[in-house]
Amino acid sequence: MRTTLTNLQTMRSKGEKIAVLTCYDASFAALLEAQGVDVLLVGDSLGMVLQGHETTLPVSLDDMVYHTGCVARGAKQAFIVADLPFGTSQVSPEKTFENAARLMAAGAQMVKLEGGSEMVATVEFLTRRGIPVCAHLGLTPQSVHQLGGYRVQGREQKQALELIEAARELEQAGAGMLVLEMVPAILAEEITANLNIPTIGIGAGAGCSGQVLVLHDMLDVFPGKKARFVKSFMAGATSIAEAVGGYVREVKAGEFPAKEHGF
Ligand code: KIV
Ligand code: NA
Repeated sequence: MRTTLTNLQTMRSKGEKIAVLTCYDASFAALLEAQGVDVLLVGDSLGMVLQGHETTLPVSLDDMVYHTGCVARGAKQAFIVADLPFGTSQVSPEKTFENAARLMAAGAQMVKLEGGSEMVATVEFLTRRGIPVCAHLGLTPQSVHQLGGYRVQGREQKQALELIEAARELEQAGAGMLVLEMVPAILAEEITANLNIPTIGIGAGAGCSGQVLVLHDMLDVFPGKKARFVKSFMAGATSIAEAVGGYVREVKAGEFPAKEHGF
């Protein structure tokens, strides 16, 4: 049976950690869910790890629809979240709904969009019309040029309070899940404690309801320097399946992320 948002909500309530990985194709979808990955995120990170772009900005809605379809055909159990790429969620709630509907038709069970209080009206519009939404706060890669680089967010008191408030507003508006990227562990913990929905951390410490990594990072496939929050699970593993299984085990046990992966 396919995992539902209700199942994920129950996991959060019971304190059972949610294991998430990004996924872009059918073969990996089957492998990942066989190793116990609860949620497959069809991330616009595919712009970097599949397409070779420097940022996620060039990814199109057609790209995301294609990869969401690939993942949905390969997965029988996992919950599938698909990213709304740059330019498809920022203009208006109505346009965002039309774009999100294409991802849902391709097999997504939830769409993810980046941003804080400016996205509240859109989150409300979608969720009231049947499209579950995962919000994404902290480092929001589609805003990398506005943020001035891939840097930790919420270190200063004022920005931390803004993030806490935005998380509350997004939940209030109907968001069913929240990704927290590159924020101090103590802030992610506080945001999680303030909410009832699951929080999924990446570079946000061990206090979130679950964790996510980019598949090509944790398998050590992506070339170049790794971010501090990434751990290679291929080290010591004899197969990709074993590496993924190790990730799931460490997330469920609260062993990953360790202190050194956080801020
Ligand atoms: O696109 C992506 O992979 C993501 C995760 C890193 C959260 O948004
Ligand atoms: Na993304």
